Amino acid sequence: MMKKLLFFLGIAGSVWACTTLNAEDSKAEGEQLYRTYCVACHGAKGNMGGSGAFDLTVSPLTLDQRIEVITNGRNAMASFKTMIPPSKIRAVAEYTMQLKPSMK
Ligand code: HEC
Repeated sequence: MMKKLLFFLGIAGSVWACTTLNAEDSKAEGEQLYRTYCVACHGAKGNMGGSGAFDLTVSPLTLDQRIEVITNGRNAMASFKTMIPPSKIRAVAEYTMQLKPSMK
């Protein structure tokens, strides 16, 4: 009986560890991609405004709208769909959601 319980806790523990790790991975990945592709115009804090780039710290866009802009581009903003796969575009869009003016 005790053995079974421990076994169950073991499984639950590893599932928990995996999901937490994945969330961390995708966050780190988003940041990594941001540094690679976006900093040149948006700056490390999102507010640089190079080449007329919008200030991401005050952007009212939702996650889905950001994914759309990053995927297909808009005016001077390039399309990234040939450079970043969709799941990773989501990760980088999520990263931009947490850029806030307080980080300036
Ligand atoms: C060549 C410079 C450049 C690069 C590189 C760039 N952007 Fe942009 N970005 C812009 C410009 C310019 C705009 C404003 C587009 C417009 O005028 O419609 C913009 C707009 C945006 C917007 C919409 C903001 C809003 O409030 O409407 C998002 C989100 C965004 N960029 C995210 C990114 C991400 C994420 C990356 C990296 C994958 C990236 N950008 C790389 C120039 C750039």
